[in-house]
Amino acid sequence: MTIQRICKKDDVPVGSMKQFDLKESEFLVVNTGERFYCLEARCTHAGAPLAEGDLDGDILTCPWHYSQFRVSDGSVVRGPANNPLNVYDITVRDGQLFIELNETRPELLID
Ligand code: FES
Repeated sequence: MTIQRICKKDDVPVGSMKQFDLKESEFLVVNTGERFYCLEARCTHAGAPLAEGDLDGDILTCPWHYSQFRVSDGSVVRGPANNPLNVYDITVRDGQLFIELNETRPELLID
C-alpha cells in the first residue's frame, strides 16, 4: 500500500469533483459535502473524463452517454456502463487529501 498526497482539501469545493494526475494515473476526487471520495477518473463504458460530468448528491453522471455511478462505492446506478469504477481510500490530514493506491473502498469523514 502506498499513501500519496493528491491535493489540498480546498482544491475540491463542496458539491464538486476534480481530476488529478498522479503516478501516470488519473484520479477523480469528489466532495459531496459530507465526505471526500476518490475514484478512477475515466468512465468504464468508453473512457469519458468523468470530471466533466455532473454530480448530484452522491450520484455521478458521465458526460458522454449518461451512465450513472454511486461515488461511495463506484457501483453502476444506470448504464450503458456495466462495470463499476475503482474506488480508493482517501483521508484528510492537516487540510491535505491523501489516497491509498491499493484499490479498496473510499471514505473518511471530512475533519
Ligand atoms: S463513456 Fe460514460 S457512458 Fe459512455
